Amino acid sequence: MMPIELLEKPQTLQTRSNAPAHDAHGRRINYLRISLTDRCNFRCFYCMPEWGMQFAPKPELLTNAELIRLVRIMAQTGFEKIRLTGGEPTLRRDLVGLVEAIANTPGISEVSMTTNALLLAPIAQQLADAGLKRVNISIDSLNPESFRKITRGGDLTRVWAGIEAAEQAGLTPLKLNCVVVRGVNDHEVLDLARLTIDKPWQMRFIEVMPLVGVAEVADNGVVPSNQLIAQIEAEFGLDFLGWYGADPARTYQIPGAQGKLGFISSISDPFCATCNRMRLTADGKLHLCLLRDNELDLRAALRGSGSDEELEALIRHAVWIKPWGHGLPDGVKPTVRGMSELGG
Ligand code: 5AD
Ligand code: SF4
Repeated sequence: MMPIELLEKPQTLQTRSNAPAHDAHGRRINYLRISLTDRCNFRCFYCMPEWGMQFAPKPELLTNAELIRLVRIMAQTGFEKIRLTGGEPTLRRDLVGLVEAIANTPGISEVSMTTNALLLAPIAQQLADAGLKRVNISIDSLNPESFRKITRGGDLTRVWAGIEAAEQAGLTPLKLNCVVVRGVNDHEVLDLARLTIDKPWQMRFIEVMPLVGVAEVADNGVVPSNQLIAQIEAEFGLDFLGWYGADPARTYQIPGAQGKLGFISSISDPFCATCNRMRLTADGKLHLCLLRDNELDLRAALRGSGSDEELEALIRHAVWIKPWGHGLPDGVKPTVRGMSELGG
């Protein structure tokens, strides 16, 4: 690992180059996850406390114009893939227009979205027409009652309608996310895996992470991916497809199935070495690593007199000082942002 002093040196602030941005560890960073709002119409118990979070006041959120300008500059810095997240991104007004503008930005090759799909069905086709390529949808249970409990109010029927609408609109390959929590939904893993036999979906099982507000859920609830893999293999058999890379999921397939299975093992098998991403919070901070507090403020420069060149230099600097990886094995947990501000 680089010594801290080296990481802090703002080398890239002095120079401007057209090369794609690499961090100090040689990783090419080309994937930006944009949180469009920190609000959500669910309160998943592994994501937010029941009473919610302290939500950012509206004037603190980046406007569409600010976001579109930033994406253009990020693209000049080598970012190619954008994912819209939240909170819940479908709560953002004029989402379709925003998708269209981002998808049409030179250099951006793919725009995708992570959503709880409650409000997706009526807008799935419009989003696809605007240039959205695909969606990831959270589904933690197939039982309407436990789905409602896990999400604190979510309606599984509407989410299913969202999943079907996404498929019809061609927002594919569809990925379904399940955060597995011991004693809550781990007994549903086989049923969720079974969905992939007839459907060309990737069902992904995610180890629960200790973000702010839910650390105690993760303290006792992590089910290591290897345990799930063994369980699914015993029931259906499993073929190994691939190790993680730009996608943090290790992939498998039930023999003969239409779809695939993915395992995201942030806790038991961190994939920091292949990390290619940074996050933009709804209030305009570049968040450098999901599980660390380090951030760099872009909003001040956007709202001040910052030129495009200055913003690009700040972004390159942020990439350069991206931490090597998370510190959970050393007991270092995030202390500032909740998952609902970072969007997964
Ligand atoms: N640990 C792991 N994943 C989480 N998500 C939300 N909270 C957590 C957590 N504590 C996932 C959601 C969604 C994505 C945005 O992040 O399930 O798929
Ligand atoms: Fe909302 Fe997603 Fe968090 Fe659930 S996990 S509360 S759907 S942001």
